[in-house]
Amino acid sequence: MARLIFLFLVFLVLIANVTTISICNGYSVHAVCIKSEKEALLKFKQCIVDRTNRLASWHSDGDCCKWTGIVCDNVTGHVIELNLRVPTLDDYYDYEAYERSWMGGKISPSLLHLKHLSYLDLSNNDFRGIHIPKFFGSLGSLRYLNLSLSNFGGKIPHHLGNLSNLKYLDLGNNYYTMHVETLHWLSSFHSLEYLDLSYVNLSQASNWFHALNTLPSLVGLHLSR
Ligand SMILES: *[C@@H]1O[C@H](CO)[C@@H](O)[C@H](O)[C@H]1NC(C)=O
Ligand SMILES: *[C@@H]1O[C@H](CO)[C@@H](O)[C@H](O)[C@H]1NC(C)=O
Ligand SMILES: *[C@@H]1O[C@H](CO)[C@@H](O)[C@H](O)[C@H]1NC(C)=O
Ligand SMILES: *[C@@H]1O[C@H](CO)[C@@H](O)[C@H](O)[C@H]1NC(C)=O
Repeated sequence: MARLIFLFLVFLVLIANVTTISICNGYSVHAVCIKSEKEALLKFKQCIVDRTNRLASWHSDGDCCKWTGIVCDNVTGHVIELNLRVPTLDDYYDYEAYERSWMGGKISPSLLHLKHLSYLDLSNNDFRGIHIPKFFGSLGSLRYLNLSLSNFGGKIPHHLGNLSNLKYLDLGNNYYTMHVETLHWLSSFHSLEYLDLSYVNLSQASNWFHALNTLPSLVGLHLSR
């Protein structure tokens, strides 16, 4: 009898294990956000001017993988995407509401804690002429960077040339608020497929044709004015 009970218990343990395994492989698990990355995002939020409270879901007691504009890797939980693009005017009931939804302020270097960030889209906002931060050049996992229509100004930092994994770089449509002195830094973009520098003032960049000519993967280019 004792032996039977023992076998029964072994059976129960086995069942329990199988159930756990199936739960762990199924839909019920998802990676939750990593504490240091959440803190980095909260610091980033503190410096952003967000008049329509688009970042309302960004508060300290939630899972940052569920916040507006954030995508985490399903397995590791690292933040891989930060997308704060404002949709087009068609999605707003009037122009004023559209304009108010543009975010601005400063961009905190706390973003450097997002070591796996591969997609950053701050397009269609209004950063009122602040420079593109030099530290963007250290976001080494970036494959997609979109700062178009967001009113960045001044000289585009050559530090961006450090982003050798970039496939898409869109700095267009900032309507002559930005300029470059050289495009030499483009030469490290071996994977770059799409480049938009429309309305960037290239008049001081004498070597731009040569720099563009060295991009082996480029399939899309916009330099229009
Ligand atoms: C994460 O899981 C979702 C839903 O199961 C899936 O649609 C998505 O492609 C996955 N993303 C990654 C990066 O694996
Ligand atoms: C960048 O964002 C703008 C507007 O938000 C969009 O029109 C454009 O297609 C984006 N660029 C890329 C390369 O996806
Ligand atoms: C270039 O990238 C490396 C590694 O990601 C980093 O250590 C370095 O500070 C970056 N340099 C610039 C100028 O951003
Ligand atoms: C571009 O820059 C040059 C020299 O810095 C300046 O003279 C010119 O007015 C600028 N062009 C535009 C359209 O802003």
